[in-house]
Amino acid sequence: MNLLTNLFYFILLFINPLTVYSYDVILHNETEPGFKIYKVLSYRDGITVVHLVKPINESCIEPRIDLRILHPNGTIDSAKVDYPIPEYNFCLGPHRYYWFDINRSLPRSINILYLDIASASYYVLSITRSGYVLSNTYVAPISIINGSIYADGYLTTHTSEECGFMFANYETENIVMWKYFSRPDDKGNFSLLNEGRHYLQSSSNYYFIFPSIDGNFGIVNANSTDINIKSNEFINPSKFTFKVYVSFIKPVMESVDGPFLIYQSAIPHFELDFFCDTAFSGIGNTCLLMFNRAEDKNTSEVIKLSFQTSGSVFDMRKLGDKFVNAEIVTFNGLFQGGYLITLRDNQRKTIEGIILDNDGKYNGTWGFPPGLKSSGSFGVTASLNGSLRLVTFENEMTLKISFTTLPKFFSNDQGYENPHIKSTYPSIDSSIPLSITNINITYHLSVTISTNNVSIYQYINNDDIPILRQFVPGNSPYFSYSSDKKTINMKVLESTFNQPNSNYYIVIDGNMVRDWKSNNPLLGVVRNRWKFNTINIQDNFAEESIGRFSLTEEGTKSFEKLSLDGRRGFLSQLRIDLAKSIPVDINRLDYIKCCEYDYSQKPPRILLSLPIKSTTSPHERNVDHIIKDLDILIKHKEVTPISWFGTTNNLEASFGFRRYKNLLDDFKFHLIGIVIGIVILGFLYFYAKKKYPLGENIVIFKFPLIILNFIMSIMFILNNGKNVPQLFIPSIIFCVIPTIINFVMGVIIMLQEIKKNRYFYEWFKNNVDIASLFTILSGANLEMLNILSSQVAGIMLFNAPLSEVIQFYIFWGSFIGFFINDVPRFIIQVFYIKLVVNYDIIPFLTLSTSSIILANNIISKIYHAIIHLYSKKRKSIMILQNKKISCNLANENSSITVPRKIRKTVK
Ligand SMILES: *[C@@H]1O[C@H](CO)[C@@H](O)[C@H](O)[C@H]1NC(C)=O
Ligand SMILES: *[C@@H]1O[C@H](CO)[C@@H](O)[C@H](O)[C@H]1NC(C)=O
Ligand SMILES: *[C@@H]1O[C@H](CO)[C@@H](O)[C@H](O)[C@H]1NC(C)=O
Ligand SMILES: *[C@@H]1O[C@H](CO)[C@@H](O)[C@H](O)[C@H]1NC(C)=O
Ligand SMILES: *[C@@H]1O[C@H](CO)[C@@H](O)[C@H](O)[C@H]1NC(C)=O
Ligand SMILES: *[C@@H]1O[C@H](CO)[C@@H](O)[C@H](O)[C@H]1NC(C)=O
Ligand SMILES: *[C@@H]1O[C@H](CO)[C@@H](O)[C@H](O)[C@H]1NC(C)=O
Ligand SMILES: *[C@@H]1O[C@H](CO)[C@@H](O)[C@H](O)[C@H]1NC(C)=O
Repeated sequence: MNLLTNLFYFILLFINPLTVYSYDVILHNETEPGFKIYKVLSYRDGITVVHLVKPINESCIEPRIDLRILHPNGTIDSAKVDYPIPEYNFCLGPHRYYWFDINRSLPRSINILYLDIASASYYVLSITRSGYVLSNTYVAPISIINGSIYADGYLTTHTSEECGFMFANYETENIVMWKYFSRPDDKGNFSLLNEGRHYLQSSSNYYFIFPSIDGNFGIVNANSTDINIKSNEFINPSKFTFKVYVSFIKPVMESVDGPFLIYQSAIPHFELDFFCDTAFSGIGNTCLLMFNRAEDKNTSEVIKLSFQTSGSVFDMRKLGDKFVNAEIVTFNGLFQGGYLITLRDNQRKTIEGIILDNDGKYNGTWGFPPGLKSSGSFGVTASLNGSLRLVTFENEMTLKISFTTLPKFFSNDQGYENPHIKSTYPSIDSSIPLSITNINITYHLSVTISTNNVSIYQYINNDDIPILRQFVPGNSPYFSYSSDKKTINMKVLESTFNQPNSNYYIVIDGNMVRDWKSNNPLLGVVRNRWKFNTINIQDNFAEESIGRFSLTEEGTKSFEKLSLDGRRGFLSQLRIDLAKSIPVDINRLDYIKCCEYDYSQKPPRILLSLPIKSTTSPHERNVDHIIKDLDILIKHKEVTPISWFGTTNNLEASFGFRRYKNLLDDFKFHLIGIVIGIVILGFLYFYAKKKYPLGENIVIFKFPLIILNFIMSIMFILNNGKNVPQLFIPSIIFCVIPTIINFVMGVIIMLQEIKKNRYFYEWFKNNVDIASLFTILSGANLEMLNILSSQVAGIMLFNAPLSEVIQFYIFWGSFIGFFINDVPRFIIQVFYIKLVVNYDIIPFLTLSTSSIILANNIISKIYHAIIHLYSKKRKSIMILQNKKISCNLANENSSITVPRKIRKTVK
């Protein structure tokens, strides 16, 4: 098989069609003679980099890297790479390749692949376009086949800035090893994301790797039977079959689709070359197969195949006689649609460009200007604005760059550089209100949502590193369609567009959507195209505040394992990363405080607190907004920068970010309400006392207290019970069982009294409603029954003549209640306050009422005991009984007031 041979020729992507006649020329005087053009790399920002080499002899070039940088305004700079790349990289290897390789690396750098024999490794040197060395990274070991170095490794850079690059080489004769690296960060560093192997059917089978729109890489290879690959001799021509397969390596998902058979033939041939690329604005991928059917080179035949990423071939045709006597140098999909083939005739005298349209049909021939010497080197590139650049040498000392403007293949890209997009909300260069919660994209055709991302960035100016604000993978519930499937709606978090007067842009990855009809992945929108800004508004002042957030289970574990220094380091990095995620000036965030435990999560998680400082600048977000945004960011961390940083990714999404509650601050209105309630009760009490001093007027406080406590206990279970799972069951048990017991005792007591106490029965007859109400209320606390005889404010209703025995029962009943109800409830409340992080009003009231009831019970029980002992001593039990009897007697009068005399005698 004939591998890509002569390397003095190279073409880059993005060239546009139609015959072109007039050129603008820029000349650049070199300071030394003898350079040849090796490669031309073009970038989206219009800068073109020419790599020049200087041959020494047949097999070697000078061991240096010379760059010429063409700015869009026509200025040309020279640069050299100052790095000791081993000299043997600059000599042709056994396969007529130089060992080093140079490739564009998007968005703004260059990768140089080279071999280091001493360490038996491939390295990639990442440099800026002006030759400054960014990084030098080991990528793979050298393969040794048949005892010698087999240095055919090369780089394939993805055409999307959002994707990384692929390194591939033969590991053995039958195995191609690939390694996929991340896109370089701003410092030129990249890392291995994935690797795999591709098995070839026969040894040293030719393969071709090309990037496809969706971020994957296609790998094409042929398989023929009965042919000796090395010598191209047919072993048995009559049995010959020849097949071409394509597989799609999905480097991110670690899987491979295919192999799909895309071509099959039984006609013998002597040589085969293939070239493949993806259609940018059209549909699918295209390969050119170039056959030499006979030993005569002049009879080459070219077949063009177009196939989808599913492997199905939708177009196959033979290209015309243009290709007789010619050799294909390059084949590339063009950004503005269609493909460019560069041809060189066999005498190496003329160079020709052929344009195929989106469907792969011949559209035109593009003649390069005359003046190319037979062995002249050239490079060709086209920028996105349709400017075509041809780089040649005018003479030994003068570099010549010919410019021309090409028409666009698709008529209207609306500025998105994507022919499929009709409009968007927000539109390009518009101003949007803060915190909008949706964006939408309208396509010209019906689409289905696929897997890749939409990312929203904020940027200060074009040269700064943009801040990622939200990224959403296609197959997430954030997306919805319009009914005609032409508009896609995406939900946006409120926190995303939270910066007033700021610039944003949205990036759509290739294969975020697919064409609904053909199911082929569609081109996305690159950085800096779909841009707009937020309006300027001023924030009100908000007091500084403290918020709390929780680590995840794993985060808690790994934090606990850290040394003291490690923890400090983690927390200070966390602070920095939080500031970047919001984003907010780091000085607005105070140092993070560690460590409380949140026992309400199981297992317990570490809680951290972050004080947020207030600002008087109306242009910065106030504390309230920061807290709200941070809460949203953490809660939706799967789509926000929170999951991007190693530190913030340890934050618990379900916890979010909660303002630290200051009870006094937060419940001030509740507390005022309670104080007013107490004051009113106080007035009632004094009124009752004045009206009838002998009544047990204290029930005016007791009654609301018990009711409030009971209601709060129930609300606590409903509202807060689940917050601390450990306490949920006990709090139900200690609410339901005592209530049932109290209620049953209440009923029994009432029935007993009705049966045995004539006086009570009389009262009961007149007050059935109130008696039944209090029987029910006795469920809350048995002492409720005592209120019936409290004579509060001298009201007749509460004048029930309870017998001594019953009072005795109530006393012991409530004594039991004290242990099964009041004490456990209090304990549960105390545990709750210890275990829970966010205390709120219900548990607060439950705890305060419980403690008052408990204290009151304890003290009153002690007093009762003292009285009991005291009276026993004095043998004054009789008097006590007298008192009760007198009470009962008094109740016989159906008057509102009990005669004072009797009471006085009692005392
Ligand atoms: C290159 O050199 C020639 C003569 O040596 C001179 O006329 C021409 O102006 C130079 N061009 C540039 C771009 O410097
Ligand atoms: C070419 O030059 C290199 C470096 O000077 C030398 O090592 C090599 O032997 C030369 N090759 C030939 C074929 O002259
Ligand atoms: C052209 O652009 C480059 C880079 O932006 C700048 O350094 C140079 O001064 C510009 N030259 C002219 C003539 O404007
Ligand atoms: C990188 O270099 C390889 C080998 O020279 C070439 O096939 C490929 O097209 C280049 N890719 C880019 C993006 O320049
Ligand atoms: C390795 O050696 C074997 C046997 O000598 C030969 O058939 C094969 O073609 C060689 N492979 C390469 C890549 O040179
Ligand atoms: C490729 O050809 C070999 C024989 O040379 C055959 O065994 C193998 O199955 C073929 N591969 C495929 C995928 O058909
Ligand atoms: C080439 O493409 C252009 C733009 O789509 C079209 O106007 C023209 O007719 C095409 N020419 C041929 C020969 O197909
Ligand atoms: C896109 O969203 C905006 C704002 O919600 C809405 O006004 C507009 O109608 C939407 N466009 C389409 C085509 O649905």
